[in-house]
Amino acid sequence: MPKEFFITTAIDYTNSPPHVGHAYEKVLADVIARYHRLKGEKVFFLTGVDQHGQKVQQSAAKAGIPPAEFVKEITQKFVGLWKKLDVRYDEWAETTSERHKKVVQGILQRLFDEGQIYKDKQAGYYSVRQEQFLTDKERGADGQFGPEWGEIEFREEENYYFRLSQHKEWLLGYLNKRSDAVIPDFRQTELRNAVERISGDLCISRPKSRLDWGIELPFDKDFVTYVWFDALTNYISFAGYDPSLSTFNSQPSTFRDRWPALQVIGKDILVPAHGIYWLIMLHAIGFPDDAMPQLLVHGWWNLGGAKISKSAGNIIDPFVLADRYGAEAVRYYLMSDIATGKDADFSEERLVERYNADLANTLGNLLNRTLNMAAKYRRGRLKSVRAETPTGDEGIWDTIEGFYGPLGFVNLGDERVAKLSNVRSAYVGMFDAHLLNSGLADVFEYVTSCNQLVDRSVPWKLATDKTKHLELDAVLYHLAESLRIIAILISPVLPKAAHGIFDQLNWKMEPEVSGKEERFSLADAEWGKLPDGHVVGKPVPLFPRIES
Ligand code: MSP
Repeated sequence: MPKEFFITTAIDYTNSPPHVGHAYEKVLADVIARYHRLKGEKVFFLTGVDQHGQKVQQSAAKAGIPPAEFVKEITQKFVGLWKKLDVRYDEWAETTSERHKKVVQGILQRLFDEGQIYKDKQAGYYSVRQEQFLTDKERGADGQFGPEWGEIEFREEENYYFRLSQHKEWLLGYLNKRSDAVIPDFRQTELRNAVERISGDLCISRPKSRLDWGIELPFDKDFVTYVWFDALTNYISFAGYDPSLSTFNSQPSTFRDRWPALQVIGKDILVPAHGIYWLIMLHAIGFPDDAMPQLLVHGWWNLGGAKISKSAGNIIDPFVLADRYGAEAVRYYLMSDIATGKDADFSEERLVERYNADLANTLGNLLNRTLNMAAKYRRGRLKSVRAETPTGDEGIWDTIEGFYGPLGFVNLGDERVAKLSNVRSAYVGMFDAHLLNSGLADVFEYVTSCNQLVDRSVPWKLATDKTKHLELDAVLYHLAESLRIIAILISPVLPKAAHGIFDQLNWKMEPEVSGKEERFSLADAEWGKLPDGHVVGKPVPLFPRIES
């Protein structure tokens, strides 16, 4: 069993700058990585850029600069965006690096030596955009190649081929055996159907006369390797894989301790790239079935129902969004307004709407009013009113209809603690299943219940009645303690806000943890950790409303 939680994303093409679709995938993986750290796991998060290939060569030529220079510039844009959006990865993959090149060439040489790669001649129609030859299967009902293939040209070429079809039965067997090889389910079905249709082998080279921006074949210097073969290998080359060691078990422990990965990819690159080429490549170099990665396939953000693409000219610049609304607003929108696996429509108005409704009016408001009331009525000092408090009646909790907050106090202790654990276990269930939007919805429903508690218990009235001092303390403690737990639960998605809440609660301020991710732990999301007599800080607006 691996000792680390290993997560990867697709590596982004460096032929054009990042758009909001790229940002979604990286934030999604970042949130999953942060969630696993929250659970106390050691995490290895790998992401990076795909720098070779025809698209890059063409874009560089258009810009009139050498490809190496071109990719450097675009790569910096991706790096800058991940920094801006608080995407925290452990390793950065650049396919032009020497380390990667050595692994790709090592694998190619091995497959060539074992007869898995052979030379052959091919003539046919070629899609420049998809960088592949097309067969009749790719023709639409009208007999034409659809617009998704872009520009088509006729080519005749000698190339090297990888014996893909030889592994078809293995892949079918593997998919039949493992029902969660691909998530969600319907994508696994889609993949299985595609595997049934595999015929023929995979061309893995390009003659240098056409494409020289790539990794040279170690056994023929007139060719470079086809971009997918190169790009897919990043998942192991940047994780410590050593191509000179032939069996999986002989790999260095750094690699075996983390592999296999959970691989986050978009729906467009499941078939054939990851679901077929990648799994078969791994199998061909001796990875056992239990070392196959799991593929988490996400949907796409569209714009007005249309695909976002450079050619459609409807690119949404994530830098502009982050400058305008802040990284947290962008992260929250991208995680809460799409169901993992499905598509969604991107809308800036909706981003603002969700921010104002959930973050400013619900969460920000709860923090603000809680700290204000604590300051006003108790000079910030909390009193932990516990279950054993002998009030004799059920006090305010009984009269607050529909309220399902947690709480270990005023008699209904156990039941209320159970309610909080319900929120937490619902959240854990959803986040474990990568259904981040549902997990977030559970947490925000809970935040709403805390606001309802304020509205229904009317603390400003309790404050004027000497016989109600216990109830007022109970309400204030409930709100502050709930905010502490809410901060922990939202921290993977909204790290800055979570720190802001802890800071204002005056909680975990030690320099070793303050401002660091280690400050948050799921184990701490347990009722009653704010001690009796704890003094909370002054409110500072966490999410100022966005006025349109
Ligand atoms: N370079 C290849 C992947 C190689 S992985 C070994 C590639 N690059 S890409 O830049 O085109 O896409 C990178 C990722 O972004 C893919 O997973 C893709 O699905 C995702 N997205 C691109 N546009 C997207 C949206 N509009 N919405 C969501 N994700 C999108 O493919």
